[in-house]
Amino acid sequence: MEKVVQFLKDAQTYYLATVDGDQPRVRPFGTANVYDGKLYIQTGKVKDVSKQIHANPKVEVCAFKDGEWIRIAGKLVEDDRVEARQSMLDAYPELQGMYKADDGNTEVFYFEDATATISAFTHAPEVIKL
Ligand SMILES: Cc1cc2nc3c(=O)[nH]c(=O)nc-3n(C[C@H](O)[C@H](O)[C@H](O)COP(=O)(O)O)c2cc1C
Repeated sequence: MEKVVQFLKDAQTYYLATVDGDQPRVRPFGTANVYDGKLYIQTGKVKDVSKQIHANPKVEVCAFKDGEWIRIAGKLVEDDRVEARQSMLDAYPELQGMYKADDGNTEVFYFEDATATISAFTHAPEVIKL
């Protein structure tokens, strides 16, 4: 788990793919926080990405750094606890100008039943269950 979060943080940007009907959608994301032993990401309820996750929680994440790439495939579950949202905002103070834990827009999701795979051209894939 720590290795996966560190990879995302070091890469700084990862790409989050969602499903929109029969159309894949992908966009850059940056938030990654461990809370309660789980990997969380953050978004806003007003965004299409949020609506897609609520309609179909299966997502994939991909990031690349230093010759290795990571893919995380799994399901996102919303955590509606204000403490979970606050933990994310504490980890990303730069978001606090745009988001507040109780603004009705900020939301956090954690990965459930997820598999992270770290790959490279130079080593066998490393599989980490989240
Ligand atoms: C480097 C980078 C990191 C980003 N991180 C996030 C993030 O963690 N959460 C988020 O909701 N939006 C983030 N964004 C903005 C989303 O990519 C943007 O709002 C996107 O349009 C959302 O997808 P959608 O249009 O399908 O809803 C980030 C953008 C960039 C350029």
